Amino acid sequence: MKLFNKVLLPAIALCIGGCSSVAKSWPDAESDLSYCHEKVRAALTHLPSDTTVMPRNIQGGEKTWACRPVSAEEWCSGFWPGVLWYDYEYSGDPAIRAAAEEATRRLQPILEQPVFDHDLGFLIYCSYGNAYRLTGDDAYRVAIVNAADSLATLFNPAVGTILSWPRHVKDFGGHNTIMDTMINLEMLFFAAKNGGNPYCYDIAVSHAETTMRHHFRPDGSCYHVAVYDPATGEFMRGCTHQGYADSSMWARGQAWAIYGYTVVYRETHDPRFLDFACKVADVYLDRLPADMIPIWDFDDPRGLEAPRDASAAAVVASALLELEGYADSTRAARYSTAAREMLASLASDAYRSGDTNDSFLLHSTGHHPAGSEIDASIVYADYYYIEALNRLRSINNKSDKELLARH
Ligand code: GLY
Repeated sequence: MKLFNKVLLPAIALCIGGCSSVAKSWPDAESDLSYCHEKVRAALTHLPSDTTVMPRNIQGGEKTWACRPVSAEEWCSGFWPGVLWYDYEYSGDPAIRAAAEEATRRLQPILEQPVFDHDLGFLIYCSYGNAYRLTGDDAYRVAIVNAADSLATLFNPAVGTILSWPRHVKDFGGHNTIMDTMINLEMLFFAAKNGGNPYCYDIAVSHAETTMRHHFRPDGSCYHVAVYDPATGEFMRGCTHQGYADSSMWARGQAWAIYGYTVVYRETHDPRFLDFACKVADVYLDRLPADMIPIWDFDDPRGLEAPRDASAAAVVASALLELEGYADSTRAARYSTAAREMLASLASDAYRSGDTNDSFLLHSTGHHPAGSEIDASIVYADYYYIEALNRLRSINNKSDKELLARH
């Protein structure tokens, strides 16, 4: 039945990946999703009954999720509801759906406040976005549209981008836009085509264009932060906040760029954004270690001795599973193989949590310069991992159907 996926695709991958120095196994989306489902079920029995908090990380030999109060200032509050929705998509388990609905409701207070920063997109689209996609309940759509309006108030037309961190304008000496904000454009695109303000589309495109112009070096690697004059819109400098150096390639920042420009191409069909998504993906892939999981910043001089970032690998795997559907055939083959190698590596004993703790994945890095969440399980790694597995499962199911139709 899974002839194409289990036999032909690995064979193709072996040909394409022939230069790779490690033997690669192949991810089995069904069994990896089943693993995730069991982990979610176990985690739910260990989480506190307090419904004002949300899982954030598991560090230092702990077994269960450390939770933080749900808040607009806690940028990770939307990922756990998102994990539950993706698990429900796979399992159809009504208990998981009930847990997903309850966890999504916890974010309601955030919707009733003025926007705190750009993370409103992460908070609401990973939770309410998946809730609406899977249930079609209009209340979720309305919430997203309102959140998009709120996010849009951070847009500065003189600059052409969203102000990521209003609280850090003085620290950076201007309007700051971080690469992570590329992820939050998806909520604006959604709103524009689902009954919200059409201006949200224009903001998203302007943000993507301006970011493309200023936020990258000639090789396609990005700065974490771009600083602009808020009055004239002049680009002042590129620098880092969570990376090793202003000139370095912070792995998760580059991952946000790959994912973000893939979404912008999906929503605009503008070939400039497809070319750009490929360019920013290629520089990342060119520098990966053999096991396909980046060190937290590609330019940390410790090289492979430095901590890895499984979360960046999960974000990129998910993005590449979409980008392979848009790219030319040579690139599509490269992205297809790379995404599957990343997922296989994440499913290996080296990165899978297994019996270690309640997360899916070990070895992510949150904020290395601040000494925070280094070599930890972090909830957004799990979110993008289970998203990627659901994407791979859809691709596999589609391939099976196409193969059967040809016979
Ligand atoms: N958005 C913050 C991060 O990627 O760590």
